[in-house]
Amino acid sequence: MAAHGLLRWSFAILLGIAAASTASGRPQIVPGRYLVEFEDQHDQSSFASNLKRSQFSAQLRISIESTIFKGASYQFDSDQLGEDALQALASMRSVKNVWPVSMIRRTTDDVIWSGSDPGAIPEGIRKQVTGENGRFPPHIQTQVNRLHAEGLTGKGVKIGVVDTGVDYRHPALGGCFGPGCLIARGYDYTGDQDSLINDLDPFVNCSDHGTHVTGIIAAQPNEFGFLGAAPGAEIGMYRVFTCADEAPSDIVLAALNQAFIDGNHIITASLGGADRWSAAISVIAQRIFDKGVICTFAAGNSRRGGPFMVTHPASSKDGIAVGSVENSEIPYILLNATWSAGNSSPITFGWVHGRPSAWGNVSLPLYVGDLDDMTCDQFSNADNLTNHIVLLLPDICRPWYSSTYAARKGAKYVLTYGEGEKPPIVEFPDPSSKLEYSLPTAVGSLPYSVASKFVTLTQSGETLFLSITDPELADKYVDSLPNTGAGFMSSYSNWGPTFELDTKPDISIPGGSILSLFPLNQGGYGVMSGTSMATPLAAGIFALLIEARGELMTDLKNLVRSTSKPLNFLDSKEPVPYLAPVSQQGSGIAQAWDAVHANGIPSISKIVLNDTDHFVQTHDLTVKNVGNKSITYLFSNRGALTFYTLEPNSFSPAEKPQLLPRYATVKFSESVVTILPGNTTIVSLSFTPPADLDASRIAVYSGFITLDGSTGERLSISYQGVVGSMRNITNLGSAIMKEPDSGPNFILPKDPYTRTANVSYQYPSYTLNAPFGIPYVDYAVFSVSRNASTSGTSSLGEYLGSLPPFPLEFLSPLSQQRLKWNGLLYNGSRVAEGRYAFVIKGLRIFGDREKEEDYITQRLDDFGIEYL
Ligand SMILES: *[C@@H]1O[C@H](CO)[C@@H](O)[C@H](O)[C@H]1NC(C)=O
Ligand SMILES: *[C@@H]1O[C@H](CO)[C@@H](O)[C@H](O)[C@H]1NC(C)=O
Ligand SMILES: *[C@@H]1O[C@H](CO)[C@@H](O)[C@H](O)[C@H]1NC(C)=O
Ligand SMILES: *[C@@H]1O[C@H](CO)[C@@H](O)[C@H](O)[C@H]1NC(C)=O
Ligand SMILES: *[C@@H]1O[C@H](CO)[C@@H](O)[C@H](O)[C@H]1NC(C)=O
Ligand SMILES: *[C@@H]1O[C@H](CO)[C@@H](O)[C@H](O)[C@H]1NC(C)=O
Ligand SMILES: *[C@@H]1O[C@H](CO)[C@@H](O)[C@H](O)[C@H]1NC(C)=O
Ligand SMILES: *[C@@H]1O[C@H](CO)[C@@H](O)[C@H](O)[C@H]1NC(C)=O
Ligand SMILES: *[C@@H]1O[C@H](CO)[C@@H](O)[C@H](O)[C@H]1NC(C)=O
Ligand SMILES: *[C@@H]1O[C@H](CO)[C@@H](O)[C@H](O)[C@H]1NC(C)=O
Ligand SMILES: *[C@@H]1O[C@H](CO)[C@@H](O)[C@H](O)[C@H]1NC(C)=O
Repeated sequence: MAAHGLLRWSFAILLGIAAASTASGRPQIVPGRYLVEFEDQHDQSSFASNLKRSQFSAQLRISIESTIFKGASYQFDSDQLGEDALQALASMRSVKNVWPVSMIRRTTDDVIWSGSDPGAIPEGIRKQVTGENGRFPPHIQTQVNRLHAEGLTGKGVKIGVVDTGVDYRHPALGGCFGPGCLIARGYDYTGDQDSLINDLDPFVNCSDHGTHVTGIIAAQPNEFGFLGAAPGAEIGMYRVFTCADEAPSDIVLAALNQAFIDGNHIITASLGGADRWSAAISVIAQRIFDKGVICTFAAGNSRRGGPFMVTHPASSKDGIAVGSVENSEIPYILLNATWSAGNSSPITFGWVHGRPSAWGNVSLPLYVGDLDDMTCDQFSNADNLTNHIVLLLPDICRPWYSSTYAARKGAKYVLTYGEGEKPPIVEFPDPSSKLEYSLPTAVGSLPYSVASKFVTLTQSGETLFLSITDPELADKYVDSLPNTGAGFMSSYSNWGPTFELDTKPDISIPGGSILSLFPLNQGGYGVMSGTSMATPLAAGIFALLIEARGELMTDLKNLVRSTSKPLNFLDSKEPVPYLAPVSQQGSGIAQAWDAVHANGIPSISKIVLNDTDHFVQTHDLTVKNVGNKSITYLFSNRGALTFYTLEPNSFSPAEKPQLLPRYATVKFSESVVTILPGNTTIVSLSFTPPADLDASRIAVYSGFITLDGSTGERLSISYQGVVGSMRNITNLGSAIMKEPDSGPNFILPKDPYTRTANVSYQYPSYTLNAPFGIPYVDYAVFSVSRNASTSGTSSLGEYLGSLPPFPLEFLSPLSQQRLKWNGLLYNGSRVAEGRYAFVIKGLRIFGDREKEEDYITQRLDDFGIEYL
């Protein structure tokens, strides 16, 4: 069917809402594109006849069919079809599920360095990435090197990678594509631009991500001296991203489905979304796990959101969500510039530019500020500074404020520095914003050692000249600092748990500053950081485990989690002698050799104690001895730091939650058990949450049940619970109703589809910011009596129905809904001019949808509408 013109609903559903969008920075909905799952007895043709009967017209995009999913995605005429189409499609007989298609981002990761010459690898990176004899730090940290030494390579294991495509021409990736090659299978859904192509060739050279990820899994011997974790595995690459960073969710779903059809034992995807629409991905992911396939997903790099920040599909119950551990050094990129004193020859130094950055090529003498803590004016003694580069000394004021004094003396170029060697990022206010004084036109910062040398030389009477090259053109180099956080969790790694209190992430893996492959045209090698880099290494570890043990999926996951090593917490830069919360690290850093060689296999590897309302006190732990020696285990409890999710009297998760050394206590039915070869034992665990916690702040406590075996093997089972009530803190956040800009009423177009050019329309609009997830939320409109002119005090009149696309299920934490109403109801009628009110109704977490008392409701201010 061809799309044509304006679509009207022929039955009792209509086009009601002018626009719907999620907050900026979150995945965007693709207008008019829907992913449909068909009912068992139905297929594309019965759906097509449903569409025809309702006078819809749509173009088929991708058909997605396998034993776990039968559906397709369609492009409808996008302009008129709002999100309300969801309701219409969902009500069709042939339709089991329907989701709008949204853009999924690949996890954004930092590129630290790239190049082709092993001789040119910066010293700071060389130390950490190319140890002697091919000892690769991420492999040492996870014991992968010890499995390689035993001859394990992941041979016979198939791994599907859903990513940006791969440069398989790289000699370290076998140089070819197709059966018999390292990259044996693949699919390209997108091409370089966003054209829907269905091509089997996943070659890419415009994006580094997929090649880097593939190298982490399977790099062959190369001149840099490192290997992939599973160089013997067979790789399938499913390309879902164009040269840019986004992929529509229908394509991601199709790719996961294809990776499943192709019989991959492991599927890995370093991508995710935080909104309800990407939940479709979690649905298929769950079915893939149910078929015994291991899936590893990046936990995400947006820790800014605080705890309970779990993205889809990493949040899916049986997937392995992977967090990131720090590498041993922190590399950073500097721009080359030179300085000289008197007639001396130029000496290079490194710096970074800030914002604004109108440097160009500048060669000027340096003027060093004169500290005056009282006023923040370091330039009271300066003459005209137009022809100087100014070095601002760190003082009690913000750099931009102190530099206004330099700007008043005409300075255009300002450098500053911080306490540490790594130059701080300096960003000044937008020059167009209203400021009393003007600002410099170019700013930047220096390493501490460089700045202090300049200060000392200047104070001893030297005049220094700096020659700075335009940042766009300047040579760059990488320097590095020892990482005090080495071996601890990366600060960017997302924290769990899910809002239904499932434990996420599952495990953690080195993801900071990882050397791997780049497309040949981008140098062939590069260093990147992020949970995207941790995730493929996790997939590689599972491949080694499958090769070695070939056991049932649940056992493999339990083995990897229970043999992981819990990590201490890193408080800013200082390690503290307390275990990091399970919400941050999951089971800890994976230990591949221990997982392959463990003889004790636990039946569970993470225990959910749930919240106060649903506290599950006792849990049975079964341990099987699959070895040929008996093992005596000593059981103990190691508590991890507890944290308060909320600030006092707040409903939003704190970005940096307050941590407390408070621990649950655990009673064991037996604390020492001996298990004979081939036998099992069951130990009953009884938990008591830590006392004296403020339940209103949602205290998340956690720890590990440790089993120290007489054979030297140690298992740890994570546990996590909440003191507080998820039900009680469920809230609708700030639902904001905007007032009309002018006049008492909102002005809507008479015909909802036609606007008169010279009328300024304004729609009643509302924004819902839910700080926590909401399982189910409805938005209804009511009439209010005409005589009630004061807002908020009148009584509600007739219930007129839900506003499309509400009711909605499963709003993720921090999701935002913004909608505009044009006066149309679901049944096709337009309301009369008059006064109305919106009422929001949200189901509490763990609430029963059938029970009124499980909802919270909020009525927004009344408003008037008129048509023009
Ligand atoms: C840039 O500076 C670094 C550090 O001083 C130096 O090693 C490198 O050679 C410089 N690069 C160029 C192109 O001058
Ligand atoms: C700035 O310097 C760079 C590097 O020396 C040079 O390539 C470029 O042409 C210069 N730009 C201008 C406008 O002089
Ligand atoms: C500094 O000198 C330049 C000319 O070199 C002049 O345009 C500018 O107005 C002077 N600025 C101040 C603050 O005196
Ligand atoms: C916590 O308890 C609730 C209510 O029983 C349940 O729905 C939920 O699944 C539990 N959470 C987990 C992760 O088991
Ligand atoms: C990238 O690959 C395409 C397709 O093979 C090729 O035409 C193009 O020249 C390559 N780009 C670069 C910069 O090597
Ligand atoms: C016990 O296991 C070890 C290694 O797992 C193996 O070398 C040995 O042959 C086994 N012994 C018996 C009696 O099966
Ligand atoms: C084997 O395990 C079962 C269940 O834990 C236990 O009842 C039985 O005594 C064990 N057998 C031996 C020989 O220890
Ligand atoms: C939840 O709220 C109810 C009603 O205010 C209260 O009785 C209950 O103690 C609260 N639960 C928790 C765990 O704070
Ligand atoms: C808008 O334009 C129409 C026709 O161009 C004109 O008749 C009408 O007066 C205008 N209305 C306003 C409010 O300017
Ligand atoms: C407002 O209207 C309602 C019904 O529309 C009526 O019951 C009520 O008495 C009126 N109130 C006033 C103050 O007129
Ligand atoms: C649509 O619903 C509204 C509110 O319930 C009602 O007033 C109106 O008559 C209905 N229109 C149709 C065509 O059923």
